[in-house]
Amino acid sequence: MNLRPLIIALDFKDRSEVEEFLNHFHDEKLFVKVGMELFYQEGPQIISYLKQRGHYIFLDLKLHDIPNTVKQAMQGLAKLDVDLVNVHAAGGKKMMEAAIAGLDAGTPAGKQRPACIAVTQLTSTSQEMVDKELLINENIENIVLHYAKMAKESGLDGVVCSTHEVEILNEKLGRSFMTVTPGIRMKEDSADDQTRIATPDLARRLGSTAIVVGRSITKQPNPYEAYLNVKKLWEE
Ligand code: C5P
Repeated sequence: MNLRPLIIALDFKDRSEVEEFLNHFHDEKLFVKVGMELFYQEGPQIISYLKQRGHYIFLDLKLHDIPNTVKQAMQGLAKLDVDLVNVHAAGGKKMMEAAIAGLDAGTPAGKQRPACIAVTQLTSTSQEMVDKELLINENIENIVLHYAKMAKESGLDGVVCSTHEVEILNEKLGRSFMTVTPGIRMKEDSADDQTRIATPDLARRLGSTAIVVGRSITKQPNPYEAYLNVKKLWEE
């Protein structure tokens, strides 16, 4: 597996749209992200289908529940033999430790357990929400750093974060703690609903471990060409 992957977000509503998209890539082995939209529609069969085609998989279901439930759920997800999964750090240390225990228990013999990363704060969460809705009396950057530290102490492998948080997280938690960053756009692309965006080469320079790219590849007239352009900037 590429240790600094470009992960393509398969934000499609069903398998037929996924198939149509992947046909542009011939035999290229990709690292793809399956989120709630696709997984809840198609179930675990979509994972078997993608694995049969040789792709690496980030199963982005952002688990957040009591520790025992998360443990059992992760045990099941590990059996799907995916490469990367995630939880909300807001579930707390016991929940994150339970996630790792579940993954360890479910990983088939001889296989490596899926890496597990934490969502610190969703990119849709604003300081105003933190103050007025969540009633957390703290600056959002401090919350991200605190949640990331907690994730590391709980045995997780990294976090999903904005490219703008990568440098401080690398400095405080070390580069072996993964920083997986969405919000990636080419210079000429529209930001859509993302607020804090970065180009693939800026993400590389800032020290992201992996980038997650959706619309800058999936919505382009020639997705394969768009993928190669992003990859070139990311890997250069
Ligand atoms: O199309 P775009 O490149 O904006 O897609 C980004 C992907 O990353 C989407 O699947 C989105 O749900 C996901 N994501 C995100 N911000 C986060 C966590 C996940 O954009 N904080």
